[in-house]
Amino acid sequence: MPPLCAAAPVLRYNPRVSSEQLAVNGGPKVRERAFPPWPALGDDDVAAVADVLRSGKLTQLTGGAVAAFEEAFAAWHGVRHCVAASSGTTAIHAALAALGVGPGDEVIVPAHTFIASATPVLHQGATPVFADVDERTYCVSPASVAGRITPRTKAIIAVHLNGHPADLDALIALAGPRGIDVVEDAAQAHGALYKGRKVGTAGRLGCFSFWEDKIITTGGEGGCVITDDDALAERLRRLRHHGEGPVQGDPSRRPFGAPQGERSYFHLELGYNYRMTSMQAATGLVQLRRLDEYLQARRRNAAYLSERLGELDAIEPPFVADYAVHSYYKYICRLPSGLGLDIADFVRAVAAEGVPISRRYPTPLPQQPVFRESGLGGDPCPSAERLAGELFTLLVHPTVTTADLDDVVAAIRKVRQRMGSE
Ligand SMILES: Cc1ncc(COP(=O)(O)O)c(C=O)c1O
Repeated sequence: MPPLCAAAPVLRYNPRVSSEQLAVNGGPKVRERAFPPWPALGDDDVAAVADVLRSGKLTQLTGGAVAAFEEAFAAWHGVRHCVAASSGTTAIHAALAALGVGPGDEVIVPAHTFIASATPVLHQGATPVFADVDERTYCVSPASVAGRITPRTKAIIAVHLNGHPADLDALIALAGPRGIDVVEDAAQAHGALYKGRKVGTAGRLGCFSFWEDKIITTGGEGGCVITDDDALAERLRRLRHHGEGPVQGDPSRRPFGAPQGERSYFHLELGYNYRMTSMQAATGLVQLRRLDEYLQARRRNAAYLSERLGELDAIEPPFVADYAVHSYYKYICRLPSGLGLDIADFVRAVAAEGVPISRRYPTPLPQQPVFRESGLGGDPCPSAERLAGELFTLLVHPTVTTADLDDVVAAIRKVRQRMGSE
């Protein structure tokens, strides 16, 4: 009987290497059990949210949870201010708005990152200029940034991708003397260290995401900006709340007759509703207490996986620069294209063995229609283009055990040995 639809291409395998057929070709899977989930929220997260719900004070404007979370997150980083936001994307947007990024300005963004590192630039009416990335750290290349700076460059977004810090000193050395701001996108890098210092604290502003699978979450969505700059913090607080100003300061900018300390309903500039809820903040406070423990577990898992993957030829585990302590939001490996293995086939075959794996940002930002079709593709970024066809993601979150990681290695070993080796 003819097949009802076209079958997926069957991967070649070498029966001399292993007796088991690849699962993608109908063989037995390396692993049948589900992988441990992340996040792992517990009774204390649930209780914290329930307390807020019972209090009826659900918002930043009415309850105290958001302010408490901001204080705790700022203290964990040793900075003066944390301004909570509804997401990492709105945090980055508010950061650019607070710096006054606008039409006519250029903002340098890595070509290999999540889309939200770049779209806030467009939302401000400015132009994203894509810089290439370093082929070892996968973070923005200072040499490429240097070649992209023009008199219109207003800011550089330093993305600490996957949990690996970007080379902040090199970027600040380029930016500082030219009056360019460095904004750290630490959405994936809570607790990562650059020369011993927590990321997010070296640039003028550091932005974080607390989305569901991040290193810590604020109940699914959430973000924040940290800074030591009092004026910027005040502007960020205003921007996230409709541009509403406190009733204080310059009398010409005060609402008519409003007494000091009262809500003003007086809007000093164009703002947004980018506020975090009390439920988000309550979860974030519980999660923050576990952050050090989570980071230790991720680093322990990553070290184990790197050691085990080192037994296999051809897979390149994550590189860690001398200046860095990685926080391993994702564990990114490279399958060099010179091996003749197709990354899509490889990822599909490993996934079929029952372990989570996915390609890492297979379309560089300059090739994304949202930029390309507006003529914003810019100059070539050959490293970002190469990496898009070579990187894949494995998971090392805290609930993963060494036995789980052994299955990951077994699946990769099986696919590596049998795929295309005839
Ligand atoms: C590098 C990077 N920047 C920004 C964001 C945006 O964060 P959010 O999803 O919380 O809006 C993310 C989220 O995944 C990210 O990975």
